[in-house]
Amino acid sequence: MSEHRYAARVRSVEMSGIRKLFDAGGPDAINLGIGQPDFDTPDHIKEAAIAAIRAGKTGYTPNAGILELREAICTKCKRENDLVFQPEQILVTAGGSEALHLVMEALVDPGDRVLVPDPGFVSYAALATFAGGRPEGMELDETLHIDVERAKEQMDGARIVVLNSPANPTGVVESEESIRALVEYADDCGVTVVTDEVYEHFIYEKKHVSAGRFGDDVITINAASKTYAMTGWRVGYLAAPEDYIPEFLKIHQYAQACATSISQYAALAAYTGDQRPVARMREEYRARRDLLYEGLFGLGFDFSRPEGAFYAFVPLGRNLIERAIEDGVIIVPGGAFGSRAPDYARFSYATSRENLSRAVERLAALVE
Ligand SMILES: Cc1ncc(COP(=O)(O)O)c(C=O)c1O
Repeated sequence: MSEHRYAARVRSVEMSGIRKLFDAGGPDAINLGIGQPDFDTPDHIKEAAIAAIRAGKTGYTPNAGILELREAICTKCKRENDLVFQPEQILVTAGGSEALHLVMEALVDPGDRVLVPDPGFVSYAALATFAGGRPEGMELDETLHIDVERAKEQMDGARIVVLNSPANPTGVVESEESIRALVEYADDCGVTVVTDEVYEHFIYEKKHVSAGRFGDDVITINAASKTYAMTGWRVGYLAAPEDYIPEFLKIHQYAQACATSISQYAALAAYTGDQRPVARMREEYRARRDLLYEGLFGLGFDFSRPEGAFYAFVPLGRNLIERAIEDGVIIVPGGAFGSRAPDYARFSYATSRENLSRAVERLAALVE
C-alpha cells in the first residue's frame, strides 16, 4: 500500500479507460481501441524535422511557438476555416491535449460548471476536474448529435461549453445550424466556447464548420496529430481572442516552456506543404468506415453511418461488448466516455481493412 498523499481533485479522476487498452489482448487480438492514425507521418514532414535537427534548431523556441509556424497557422485558419487570426492570437502547444489543459487551468475557478458532451472525449471532464471545476454532461439526441435545446437549458451560469465536431467517440458531425445556435446562445449567456476541431479533415459527406465564425468568445483548438498522422510529435495550437493569450502563456511557459522545436518545424512543413496525403488518408478512412458500417449493420446493429473522425459508436449491449473483448476484438465500452452510453462501444477504424473484416467476422460468430 502506498503511503503517499495525493490531492483530492487528482484522486477523484480515474485513469483513462482507453490507455488501458493500448496493450490489451493476446497476440491474436484485433485492436480497434486506439484513436490514433495507423498511417506514417508523410515524408516531406519528416524531412523538415531532420533538416531542423541538422540545422541545429534544437534549442528553446519563443514560448508561444516560432513565428513562421504561427503565421502558417493563421494562413491555414483563413484558407480552411474562414477564421482571421494574427500570430499574436496563436499559441503553439504540445498537442491539442495541452491546449485543452491550458484553457481549463486559466479559465476555470473552483466550482465552475464546464459543459462537456456526454458521451465525449475523455479529457474534457478530467481536465475540468483537475482545474477545480465541475464537469456537467450535455446530452446527445437519438442520432448522437448534441441536443441543442437541452444544452441551452444548461448554459446559463456555466463557465465553458466544449464543442467537438467531428466528435470522438460518436463519429458525428454537427450541422452549421446547431453550431451557430450553440455559439450564439453561449455568447448571449457569457459562456466561453472551447471548440476542439482535431478531426476537421476526416469528414466524409458533410462540410466542416468552425464554431469561431459565429461568436467573439470562442477558443479554437486543433493539432497536427490526427490531420497529418503526427500523434507522437506532440504539436497542436489554440487560437483565441488576443487578451486570452498572456494568461494561457503564463501556464504554458512555466509548465512546458515551448512545444518541441523540431516538431514545430515539422508542423510548419505540414501546414504549408503538400496537402494530398491528408486527402489520401481521408479516402482510406472513408472506405474503412463503409466496410465496418456495412459489416455491423449486416449483423443487425441499427445505427447511423458515422459522419466523421475515425470512429463508429455502436449499440452492441454490455454483454456482447464484454464477450467481444474477451474474444480479442478490442473496442472501448461507452462507459469510458461518460455516463450516458454504457450499452455502446467505440470502434476505431484507424486500422487496416483486413483487421476490420476479421473483427466483423468474429462478432458475427458471437451473435449467431
Ligand atoms: C477529440 C480529441 N481532442 C483532442 C485529442 C488530443 O489530441 P493530441 O494528440 O493532439 O493531444 C484527441 C485525441 O485522441 C481527441 O480525440
